[in-house]
Amino acid sequence: MEPKRSANSAAEAVRDASEDTLSIPAPPSASAPSSSTPVKGGNLFLFRKPSRVKDVSKSVAKKLWRQEMWKVKKATKKAAKRAARQETNRQSGEVGQDDNLNLQAATSESKNDQLLRKQRREQRKNQRHEAQMAFLRRCEEGARVVIDCGFDSHMTEKELKSLGQQLMYVYASNKRALAPCTVHIAELGAGIQQRLSCVAGVQNWQGFNRETRPFMETYAAERDKLVYLTSDSPNVLTQLDPGLIYVIGGIVDRNRLKHATYNKALAQGIATARFPLREHVQLGSSPVLAVNHVFDILLEFQYTNDWRATFAKVLPNRKSVKVNEPAVNKDS
Ligand SMILES: C[S@@+](CC[C@H](N)C(=O)[O-])C[C@H]1O[C@@H](n2cnc3c(N)ncnc32)[C@H](O)[C@@H]1O
Repeated sequence: MEPKRSANSAAEAVRDASEDTLSIPAPPSASAPSSSTPVKGGNLFLFRKPSRVKDVSKSVAKKLWRQEMWKVKKATKKAAKRAARQETNRQSGEVGQDDNLNLQAATSESKNDQLLRKQRREQRKNQRHEAQMAFLRRCEEGARVVIDCGFDSHMTEKELKSLGQQLMYVYASNKRALAPCTVHIAELGAGIQQRLSCVAGVQNWQGFNRETRPFMETYAAERDKLVYLTSDSPNVLTQLDPGLIYVIGGIVDRNRLKHATYNKALAQGIATARFPLREHVQLGSSPVLAVNHVFDILLEFQYTNDWRATFAKVLPNRKSVKVNEPAVNKDS
């Protein structure tokens, strides 16, 4: 038989239960004296038997016991929750510290990255600048070439558009040439200027000077150095002289403006020359070449000093070029 509990032993059981949430005392037996007035004691509620209540029935005792157990459970749960919350806060404090450290590390890392990126940007900028300077130096060592755009008003819209395209090819060839030239675009009129202005980055084109003045004004002091290249010239170009300035007519005319450049050169009293085409190649069509092909021939010959190799490389297929065999020395 289970021993009967006194009021004190019930209270102790309740206290035990509050300290150890798992130990729940058994309900009191009917005769066990119980309390009906809970007294707050820390987290515990102790029971004092009301003096006027001598004894309680079994069902009342059970009810009181349930109430007390509910209060104990509630207090225990609350304490456990508080402890859990404190633990979470403590951990998050630690995590927060870790986060702060991580954040500091990440910030200094990204600052380092930024610094590195900035240094690399500076390095690339310097390299670009160096490359531009080196390119300009090479241009200065090369031939001086003028493209005379003073024929703007003689060309149709379509021809102007073609000339704009050809000037872009000229720039591109020069930029990638191992032995580039200094290019001077003279008498740049509104028509062609408008077409060039549509080209992205045109204002930064290196080694490609542009001006609206006629070349005769620009080179007034060096007029004896000017050689107008024209297929109509009786003079054959054999070598490139670094001291001379070679002028190309900036014209796209589909053969309409015959002798235009030759007549202009004669009128201005400057020298003329034609490429030695018929001396080295058999052309299937006219010896009049497009501006960009004329420029490419100058570039290539400046590099190779070999007309046949130059024509074989540069002349377009539609000219159905057959390069002559080198002359055989009959005495050998
Ligand atoms: C399409 S051509 C213009 C032809 C134009 N009817 C003329 O009178 O010159 C463009 C320019 O390339 C140059 N050119 C063309 N073929 C040439 C050649 N065989 N020899 C030298 N220069 C040439 C000339 O400076 C010429 O003005």
